[in-house]
Amino acid sequence: MPVHKVARTYVESLVLPCANSSLLGFALLMGFLAINFSLAEETTLEQRPWLDKSASPDERVSSLLSQMTLEEKVGQLNQSNGISGQATGNTKNLVADSALYQLISKGQIGSILNEVDRAIVNELQRVAVQESRLGIPLIFGRDVIHGFRTIFPIPLGQAATWNPELVTAACRTAAREARSKGIQWTFAPMVDISRDPRWGRIAESFGEDPYLASALSIASVEGYQGDDLSNSDSLAACVKHFAGYGAAEGGRDYNTTMISPSAMRNVYLPPFKAAVDAGVATLMCGFHDVNGIPMSVNKYWLNDVLRGEWDFRGFVVSDWDSIFETIEHGVSKDEQTAALAAARAGVNMEMNSPCYRNHLAELVSNGQLSESTLDDLVKPILRIKFRLGLFDQPYSEPNSERLLLTKNNLELAQKVARQSIILLKNEDGTLPIKKSQIKELAVIGPLADSKRDQLGTWIPDGKEADSQTPLAAIRATAKLHGTEVLFVPGLEDDFDRSTERFAEAVTVAERADLVILIVGERANISGEARSRAILDLPGAQNELISAISEVGKPLVLIVQAGRPLTIGKQVEQVNALLYSLHAGTMAGPALADLLWGVESPSGKTPVTFPKSVGQVPLYYNHVNSGRPPRPYEYEKDKTVDDSINVELGYNSNYIDVGPYPQFPFGFGLSYTAFSYGEVELSAAKLRDGETLAVRAPVTNSGEVAADEIVQLYIRDLVGSLTRPVLELKGFRRVRLAPGETSIVEFALPVSDLAFYNNDEERLIEPGEFEIFVGGSSLAPKVGKIEIVK
Ligand code: NOJ
Repeated sequence: MPVHKVARTYVESLVLPCANSSLLGFALLMGFLAINFSLAEETTLEQRPWLDKSASPDERVSSLLSQMTLEEKVGQLNQSNGISGQATGNTKNLVADSALYQLISKGQIGSILNEVDRAIVNELQRVAVQESRLGIPLIFGRDVIHGFRTIFPIPLGQAATWNPELVTAACRTAAREARSKGIQWTFAPMVDISRDPRWGRIAESFGEDPYLASALSIASVEGYQGDDLSNSDSLAACVKHFAGYGAAEGGRDYNTTMISPSAMRNVYLPPFKAAVDAGVATLMCGFHDVNGIPMSVNKYWLNDVLRGEWDFRGFVVSDWDSIFETIEHGVSKDEQTAALAAARAGVNMEMNSPCYRNHLAELVSNGQLSESTLDDLVKPILRIKFRLGLFDQPYSEPNSERLLLTKNNLELAQKVARQSIILLKNEDGTLPIKKSQIKELAVIGPLADSKRDQLGTWIPDGKEADSQTPLAAIRATAKLHGTEVLFVPGLEDDFDRSTERFAEAVTVAERADLVILIVGERANISGEARSRAILDLPGAQNELISAISEVGKPLVLIVQAGRPLTIGKQVEQVNALLYSLHAGTMAGPALADLLWGVESPSGKTPVTFPKSVGQVPLYYNHVNSGRPPRPYEYEKDKTVDDSINVELGYNSNYIDVGPYPQFPFGFGLSYTAFSYGEVELSAAKLRDGETLAVRAPVTNSGEVAADEIVQLYIRDLVGSLTRPVLELKGFRRVRLAPGETSIVEFALPVSDLAFYNNDEERLIEPGEFEIFVGGSSLAPKVGKIEIVK
């Protein structure tokens, strides 16, 4: 039986893109067609039974695997970097002349990363499908981290929305854009719990809390993968960096981690487990070591737990060179031992470095690695390729440009950005801007019009030209209200230390009725390898804030950054503060919407903001020492007083800045006020298997419609291990009109009160638990329950 359908698909996918291009494209097309037709004539389902779409992915994997040579099996485990940008010329020659060509045509590469030129993607794929012996398609991976061309807020900003549905929608859009360019696999979401803002990769994370991160981990996987991986707008997701990478000692990237078994299970693993349960296709192990064993060779977590206990059926990719780097870690003596250890640990695919390519076949031939272990590494990769439909439609769709940066995509990006921005101060209702009172508006600051910086880290396919900046959006909105905008940057950029231009900025501030000062961190000082030991605003931005605040005009500070910065003293100098975690392409219009009150701010901090870097790590769900300081009181503790106080007693404290944060977890203000009525608990005593219903009446007692993020926390009062003083167990975003009350219901199953001890036993311990409900981690206690046997 000839495989007509398969051949026709190849031809269609090549005809359409080439038909729009030059004569050269046409000539290439003729060459492709010749090969296609001969393939159609030659290939039969008897010869390649794995092309039978009616068989299950597992059956297709078995039939293909049974035909593969040792070298071809090893080939599937190798991932290489793409070739775009290495040379110019026509696509076919570029590919034919590349070192990759030889490897792909011999079936020695299973995946390519960082290739987004659709013509090159299709040509590399053609070589794999038509020139390699078995025609196994490549899988193309890319870091689509917070959008592809339409850039959404950085993941930490997405976490500040506390809105899983919106995160799903953002990831869906990113998937649609990326798949249109030939990408089938994103290296996202990153779900590393991050309790340390020195770590630059906190920007890529969903913050410090396992519950919030788990919810957003599921939301992202569902968004990227959709209902079916084979849909033309789905990407295989890759949850990373398994696991505990965010615990890097000192917040220094790639650094060692020391994580107790209970902390691994209770804090770092939940978002990974959530992704696995949600059906994530792939997982990436981290660069780091946990308690001395680099993750890339960590058999216990990768094999025993991930595959054994969790039954993960997707595949694990290493991080870039991370198998090779186990030599530098000092646990592998050479490439061969690194390859053996990683293969035994269960790393299916090696990103970039050549340990597998150079050594696995020999390790199998000489009996050090069994062929069945090798098969077990290959199978999940093939299974995902089948599930992605790559054997049925290996090529990327034509006319992709029109799917990028569409009106809908931009509107969604604006909505996500709006919900991600956090109002941290609003003295005397400074915001929203009172249209009638503001005739002249000063916009000052080096990040007011910085198209690149608002996009944040990891935007390989984003373009700064697409960015709509705060300055542009403020000007556009001000025009509608007849307000004049006076703009002076004050500093060349965020690193500028010169105060020369301050006088000009001060003059403009003096003229204006209201000043909006836009400062922050440039995009490339957060993200990978961008750890900072100082978390102040860089350059002379603090001095600029002081100079402008001395003018005495109402002052709104906007910070655009990739992490929480230590801005306590600056907060005291301004009347209002909006914190924008690099909010992407539409950061400007989103900020303008909030400034003018088109929408009320609703973002809440996904991490604790420290007062001083010396307090880090500082997170809300810590355990108590035997000598805790007095309880945290936001109003009392919000100012930074760094005078030394030796009268604090013998408790766990800092005698200079105290142990309390600048802004607590889950915190954010609104243009309205919410009041909470009496919370009802469905039971006082519960057993395992039962569920507590928590009903909280929430009223919008202010004057504008707005969203509130209602949060449910618990405290396990006595445990066989020290237990966190507070743990998030539920949250809900509700929209309320002025005067409206809604009963927000949470279902809290007793199983959610379980925790792991250091023997990795999961326990539900009898005893008392306090319940807290409110709009932040400052939520008051609303009751108590008892878990009984
Ligand atoms: C290294 C990073 O750690 C990882 O997150 C990323 O996906 C890979 N490089 C590929 O770019």
